[in-house]
Amino acid sequence: MPGLKGAIIGLGNVALEGHLPAWKGRKDFRVVAGVDSSKERRELFSKLLPDVGTFENLEECLVRNGRDRSLLDFVDIATPPHTHFALIRAALNAGLHVLCEKPLVLKREDAAELGSLLLRSGKVLMTVHNWKFAPICRKISELIREGAVGDVNRVEWYVLRSGPAVTTLEGKENWRLNPEMSGGGILVDHGWHAFYLVLEWLAGRPSKIFATLEKRQYGDLPVEDTAKARVEFTSPGGVKTVDLFLTWASRLRKNSGLIEGTEGRIHVEDDRLIVVKGSSPARTFPFEKALSAGSHHPDWFDFVIDEFLAEISGASPAGQNFETARACLELIERSKESSAKGGAELAMA
Ligand SMILES: NC(=O)c1ccc[n+]([C@@H]2O[C@H](COP(=O)([O-])OP(=O)(O)OC[C@H]3O[C@@H](n4cnc5c(N)ncnc54)[C@H](O)[C@@H]3O)[C@@H](O)[C@H]2O)c1
Repeated sequence: MPGLKGAIIGLGNVALEGHLPAWKGRKDFRVVAGVDSSKERRELFSKLLPDVGTFENLEECLVRNGRDRSLLDFVDIATPPHTHFALIRAALNAGLHVLCEKPLVLKREDAAELGSLLLRSGKVLMTVHNWKFAPICRKISELIREGAVGDVNRVEWYVLRSGPAVTTLEGKENWRLNPEMSGGGILVDHGWHAFYLVLEWLAGRPSKIFATLEKRQYGDLPVEDTAKARVEFTSPGGVKTVDLFLTWASRLRKNSGLIEGTEGRIHVEDDRLIVVKGSSPARTFPFEKALSAGSHHPDWFDFVIDEFLAEISGASPAGQNFETARACLELIERSKESSAKGGAELAMA
């Protein structure tokens, strides 16, 4: 399927530093349009891709697409979260495949509407689950698949940051700090990544959750800077647990974790994995870059493009990524509900 043509919508940090370099390296995809409400961002994009047209909004781009039926096959949405739902719906209605940054949408009812639309459209809707493709996370998945620790029954996952990421919109409000735009603080920003990772590593279904959202350092922010969540999974092998600790209120920038199975464990130390199994000597796998290094990862995004292509071409089952995204949204929503009830234990649907 050579040369699928797409528009990037939202030409901010992640689009120009994380997505565009990966798209430019592909022979099987072509970026043929850029859309952004900001003139400065459109101008910057035009410097990077001088022959590619820009539009102020998706509607204009779709009008052009209607006039020239061959313009677009897909869109790549990298705008702030509160805009995702309307943009996805418009793109699917226009008969386009959609790749969209996380969080896919902010409300369960929006996800449900997109689910029905997807069935009718026969198109692909894929959320950017790029952390799965970080070299250290790919290695964890590979070790689990090859049985390096047996059946995984416990995951601890820690994300430490010294503050929220910045936006390109200098002088304007940082959307990450506005709950109407972001859907929440670090729970949404990093929790979404953490949830799809543990859904990949643990067999079974989440059955219970309890969570607390706190303002440890940034008391004046309208969103939480720290999130703690415990998720229990039920599986034929018994109860499995996940403990997440995510914070913007640290002096450190670090990712770490522990993945424990019936036969061993994997210690995640940001730039290395240490695998311990039975009485065998521990195996250490060092990585060139720490998991916490940088915020934009064209090399991880390249694998996301492969995943997108696999679903478009039918090489991988339709809708799996969408179901994972819905599960992440459900876990985030239930975490908020649990926290609002003082960290109460809630059953998962
Ligand atoms: N997967 C990851 O690792 C990762 C990393 C960073 C950001 N993200 C996600 O990517 C998205 C964008 O984040 P960012 O850091 O690039 O934000 P940003 O603020 O840097 O950029 C957003 C851009 O979207 C434009 N925009 C806003 N509303 C628009 C609309 N309706 N139509 C067209 N353009 C519009 C803005 O002008 C801006 O240029 C968010 O959903 C965020 O969660 C994901």
